Amino acid sequence: MPNDRNQHVIDQNPHEAAIFGGGKSLALYVHWPFCRSKCPYCDFNSHVRDAVDQARWRDGLLRELEYFANVTNYREVGSIFFGGGTPSLMPPATVAAIIEAAASHWSCAEDVEITLEANPTSVEARKFADLRAAGVNRVSLGVQSLDDRALAFLGREHSAEDAKHAIILSQRIFPRSSFDLIYALPEQTQATWRHELADALNLVESHLSVYQLTIEKGTPFYGDWRRGDWVTPEEAIGAELFEVTRETLTDTGLPAYEISNHARPGEESRHNLAYWLSRDYIGIGPGAHGRLAQNAGAMAFDQHRAPETWLEAVETQGHGTKNRISVSANERLEEALMMGLRLTSGIPHDEFKRIVGNTVEAALDATRLNRLIDGGFIVLDKAGLRATPAGLMRLDSVLGALLG
Ligand SMILES: C[S@@+](CC[C@H](N)C(=O)[O-])C[C@H]1O[C@@H](n2cnc3c(N)ncnc32)[C@H](O)[C@@H]1O
Ligand code: SF4
Repeated sequence: MPNDRNQHVIDQNPHEAAIFGGGKSLALYVHWPFCRSKCPYCDFNSHVRDAVDQARWRDGLLRELEYFANVTNYREVGSIFFGGGTPSLMPPATVAAIIEAAASHWSCAEDVEITLEANPTSVEARKFADLRAAGVNRVSLGVQSLDDRALAFLGREHSAEDAKHAIILSQRIFPRSSFDLIYALPEQTQATWRHELADALNLVESHLSVYQLTIEKGTPFYGDWRRGDWVTPEEAIGAELFEVTRETLTDTGLPAYEISNHARPGEESRHNLAYWLSRDYIGIGPGAHGRLAQNAGAMAFDQHRAPETWLEAVETQGHGTKNRISVSANERLEEALMMGLRLTSGIPHDEFKRIVGNTVEAALDATRLNRLIDGGFIVLDKAGLRATPAGLMRLDSVLGALLG
């Protein structure tokens, strides 16, 4: 879920009633902010609590969902994504209640994709079966590594064996299953990473997310890294590992469809495609974001980040929106490029026109665009606008050069 934005707040009255967005399909994100323990690398909005009042949390999420149903105008929900935190810690009855409420406020598309992020430590067959019965049809497992030493370094509570067991179980129970790996760990080499990827390929079904370790400010890893307790692989090695990942997975029928995401054709995450292609989505729960197209720009919603602040706001006013921000047409263009160029297939012409309200040629500066095309970083052809592999590896600089 996109987090960083530089829009100025020009409409900070989330209490005022109005109807936002409108159209056919909506993507729904549900944030569950609790975890059993906090991993030292993670800066997601995730918290450890001694006890969670499950009934209050269920009611809070349902109430905020109802608020958004009342102020938006869509025909159906195309995808639901339970993210976190660790949503596999949610009571399956709460997951079922949210899915049922979404289907009754709008309706669910016939092929609705309902994903839930699961941590290998919080799953057992019974829980998976109950989540499946609740309506979840896709699971994304936070495996992170298939090597016990790496898992210990990452502060994970599961072993490689637990992860394998959870992957196999998830594939038995859910129609679609994916898992996450993190690479570019200290001392990782091409050889060790190839070995781990081979293990992963023996287990993967049709979708795999592979993230390069990011050292996030404010995390315990940031302090360790600053002190020099360990070093991450140099940039050139990180780039090699990125290339090895793309080659290996493409050769086995799992091409990258986004910088960090690989799938057999047709098995891409539909929910995440809604973010990357700037489609409309709402987010409920602490720290969730929403984006609804509005005239030439969009309306952005940011929910209170602290779990207790969010819950109190929902209980007193029906929603936990902290800021409602109007995104200008220019900012919408920046966002469309930032998100869409992450996709291997880039932004098709019709999608570009839908998001930006103009053609690529009319919306972008020709000199800047041509310089990037001549440099081999961007392609503009009949299919649309996309980054080349060289462009993808330095996407931030490409965006800087494109937008000035
Ligand atoms: C929101 S987390 C949820 C997954 C679930 N809570 C778990 O940990 O099993 C989504 C994914 O982001 C990735 N991630 C989180 N922090 C990261 C970091 N600093 N660098 C790279 N990947 C990270 C992990 O692969 C993780 O599975
Ligand atoms: S990586 Fe997952 S389990 Fe670990 S703190 Fe972050 S959200 Fe929680």
